[in-house]
Amino acid sequence: GQIAAPGARLAGKHVLVTAGPTHEPIDPVRYIANRSSGKQGFAIAGALAALGARVTLVAGPVSLPTPPGVSRIDVETAREMHAAVDAALPADAAVLVAAVADWRSDGAAEQKIKKDGTGTLPDLRLVENPDILAGLGRGSQRPRLLIGFAAETENVVPHAQAKLARKGADWIVANDVSGDVMGGEANAVHLVSAAAVETWEHMPKQAVADRLAARIADALENVS
Ligand code: CTP
Ligand code: CA
Repeated sequence: GQIAAPGARLAGKHVLVTAGPTHEPIDPVRYIANRSSGKQGFAIAGALAALGARVTLVAGPVSLPTPPGVSRIDVETAREMHAAVDAALPADAAVLVAAVADWRSDGAAEQKIKKDGTGTLPDLRLVENPDILAGLGRGSQRPRLLIGFAAETENVVPHAQAKLARKGADWIVANDVSGDVMGGEANAVHLVSAAAVETWEHMPKQAVADRLAARIADALENVS
């Protein structure tokens, strides 16, 4: 990794970031996925490293280069992401940007599922994945600053406020994904805490990352 400049705002701090989708196998050739590109999470990891933080980035399957100075752990499934996050603790702050698949197929088939020729459909049973953010929120190694993302297509702020409370997070970055945000280069977000809702202007994902990293530095300075 890179050596942080002396006096860097996040020098000596460990920040954990999750990014990208997860893939949940159905059989050896098929999986459940979502439209997350990983761009926002990777930009946040890079922005935190640029402020001197030690950054552990737990990344789902994406085709993006690792930002300079970031330690990257690649995972495929929600359960692998959960284990990698737990293994990376303790952390001063965690920013969970990943679009974790909510459900996985209960017991992926070991062989490719074949059509049986009569039109009978496979019996896919879904089970819920662990909630990594909620687990951190109530865990014994809770990061001092715990930040989630919420992708919403409607009622963006109320849904984010409900998630903040339900998951025990300090901030939720609420993301209006009703347009072409997923995979795109720009983002419209609200920074939601128990005390306030801040609406940020529509801006490039890199600018969201820089602004959030600066806010994280402010918050960690003010409580340490
Ligand atoms: N998250 C997580 N583990 C999960 C699901 C979500 O850590 N199994 C995290 C995401 O990384 C994000 C936050 O929780 O930081 C909110 O994710 P979101 O999908 O918006 O919340 P859900 O509780 O899954 O609600 P929804 O039904 O809207 O998908
Ligand atoms: Ca979800």
